[in-house]
Amino acid sequence: MSQFLSKCDTSAIGDATAALINGGLVAFPTETVYGLGADACNEMAVARIYSVKGRPADHPLIVHVASMEGLGDWAHDVPGYAISLARDFWPGPMTLIVKRSGLAGDFVTGGQNTVGVRVPNHPVALGLLEAFELAGGKGVAAPSANRFGNVSPTTARAVTDELGDFLEDGDLILDGGPCDVGVESTIIDCTGDAPKILRPGAITEEMIKGSTGLDVLVANGVAIRVSGSLESHYSPLAKVVLDQSPLAGQGFIAMADIASGAGVIRLAAPSTHDEFARILYSALRAADEQGLNTVVVAQPAGNGIAIAIRDRLQRASRGH
Ligand code: TXA
Ligand code: MG
Repeated sequence: MSQFLSKCDTSAIGDATAALINGGLVAFPTETVYGLGADACNEMAVARIYSVKGRPADHPLIVHVASMEGLGDWAHDVPGYAISLARDFWPGPMTLIVKRSGLAGDFVTGGQNTVGVRVPNHPVALGLLEAFELAGGKGVAAPSANRFGNVSPTTARAVTDELGDFLEDGDLILDGGPCDVGVESTIIDCTGDAPKILRPGAITEEMIKGSTGLDVLVANGVAIRVSGSLESHYSPLAKVVLDQSPLAGQGFIAMADIASGAGVIRLAAPSTHDEFARILYSALRAADEQGLNTVVVAQPAGNGIAIAIRDRLQRASRGH
């Protein structure tokens, strides 16, 4: 058990708020994955996120706020369709990329003139963000709470395994149980005439179209472009192989109706796509815990969250 780990009682929210105000880092649960948070207005604190994650400084962070009102603090020139998305899907698994206000420093946006903003739908995250804003804070910058390039954590234990060696006195990990959605938020670029999906997630193209009445653009390919580079990402140590027959001794993740052969190590057998998303990252972590060389995944077909699952799997299969 890590010295940083804290159960989410009311005193923990107070401690975590104080940690943020004092420039510390707080890992907290959201409905998607765990985030590693810092006061988004504190340059030194935000710099520590990058060093703890081992993340390049030009990769922008998402600012988490307690409510839609926070969008006005961090953004300007927000288009009507973005307001409509915020009304319909916040709190929820959706990040809006908007033109930044003066509040959003280069140290949060990676030097871009836009900023990512999200209101997460999780009682612990919202409790923390509300307490932080009551204490005078404006927002919490938080990437997923994993080392750069690794699988995002969906449990507090996974956060401890990823970052426990890199945290310092005064930092905290709030344990809010396993995350409900399991894959990261849908990222929507709202700087053009129509919404553009940069990263698929639980808020789908159909939902965005339904909310805005606009045709939705989807970024080229499946990867997000950050500072001109395409990443492979979300990778366990084990080699991820897609849509092949697993051999004895290999890990296997597939829908429950797909059987596994003799000697195959079945890591997960979800019966719905929502469940697939929820357990995917912990199943990939289990492959590493069991020291497996290879994990075969049968990609789920169809639309909805299956698109986000395939996006993450294709990047995981490209390795580190
Ligand atoms: O579900 C989530 O979004 C989680 C939870 C913790 O909220 N956060 C998360 O953060 O996945 P992170 O940093 O691991 O991934 C955010 C992605 C990065 O690839 C980053 O490049 C992109 O969002 N991003 C952030 N701000 C951006 C901006 N202004 N323009 C383009 N992309 C941006
Ligand atoms: Mg991440």
